[in-house]
Amino acid sequence: MSWTFSQRAQKLTSSAIREILKVTERPEVTSFAGGLPSPATFPVERLRAACANVLTQAPSPALQYGPTEGYMPLREWIAQRYKVSPANVLVTTGSQQGLDLLGKVLIDAGSRVLVETPTYLGALQAFSLSEPQFVSVPSDDDGLVPDGLTPELTTGARFLYCLPNFQNPTGRRLPVARRQQLVRIASNAGVLILEDDPYGALSYSGEQLPTLHSMSPDGVVHMGSFSKVLAPGLRVGYIIAPELLHRKLVQAKQAADLHTPSFTQRIVHEVIKDGFLDEHIPTIRTLYGEQCSTMLDAMREHFPQNVSWNRPAGGMFIWVKLPAHVDATLVLEKAIAANIAFVPGAPFFANEPQKNTLRLSFVTVPKDKIVQGIATLGEILSRECQGG
Ligand SMILES: Cc1ncc(COP(=O)(O)O)c(C=O)c1O
Repeated sequence: MSWTFSQRAQKLTSSAIREILKVTERPEVTSFAGGLPSPATFPVERLRAACANVLTQAPSPALQYGPTEGYMPLREWIAQRYKVSPANVLVTTGSQQGLDLLGKVLIDAGSRVLVETPTYLGALQAFSLSEPQFVSVPSDDDGLVPDGLTPELTTGARFLYCLPNFQNPTGRRLPVARRQQLVRIASNAGVLILEDDPYGALSYSGEQLPTLHSMSPDGVVHMGSFSKVLAPGLRVGYIIAPELLHRKLVQAKQAADLHTPSFTQRIVHEVIKDGFLDEHIPTIRTLYGEQCSTMLDAMREHFPQNVSWNRPAGGMFIWVKLPAHVDATLVLEKAIAANIAFVPGAPFFANEPQKNTLRLSFVTVPKDKIVQGIATLGEILSRECQGG
């Protein structure tokens, strides 16, 4: 039997994070590598009751094919939350499918796609299938630098992909003034913005900044997800898009999977319809805020002076910068030998990787293990970060 992969498939590579996660499945490993939410936040009893209700009250439609656009009461709930029309809402199979569909309908081979430096690896993977030319937009500790969107960068760009809230991988949040400036510059340059926002609700103080979409509904496509506020295994996310784009996305989704499972959409709606998220999300914020503080305190105590990091105001990640001469991938080898895992930062860069960076996630590790793990990592870093 002889067969050939398509050229597109030949360019596919496995995510560096997935490869690392295989190692972290060993029970003795303390993993700061994953991007998974804490299972302690999954509302299991609520979901159990919702399953029973859905199967009792509407067994046939819950188990039948449904409309590609999504389950109407769920679309209406999302529309109300964002003050848009349900006609602009497409329910997706996780926001990862949103990225895939948007890549398919907006990118041709060689199209310029603007991304943050660094950016979400899963988006780079999803867009890569359409073979774009990634253009990195300058970013600093506050996120994307709007003035970096020069005509040289924006001319002919299909879109700018950005994560204004507690970005994966850096945990940084774009200040309001930058949001306003960004939307203005992109609009003047005629560049569509794709706003990916799975972490916006996870602000530790509860303060939420206005979405880019609220500032420019016609110029911004917004992606959201129930993965980080309910459970990722449900695979329910959504895209809010202007009508023309919405229609094209529906066609692309039809080809991809006909629709997101009727069953999980109804379960999500059953759980959230009476305001449950408003009581549930604060418990996630508190838990993650405490875990984050524990990690930051341990880092201050154990990490060497020449290592720096940010103090996120929400989300699941801390971004660490090692001295310029230190390669985080080589540090990872030493860390794994000591049963500690993290994700090197390099794969998150579309161009010119900064090899001296790494991402730490604190949400799935108990506090005592966070402290122990950071102490061990601190010892390794103290050895590896000498000189330069
Ligand atoms: C920035 C970002 N976008 C999208 C996703 C995909 O999320 P989901 O498909 O579970 O909604 C993730 C998952 O970690 C993410 O970090």
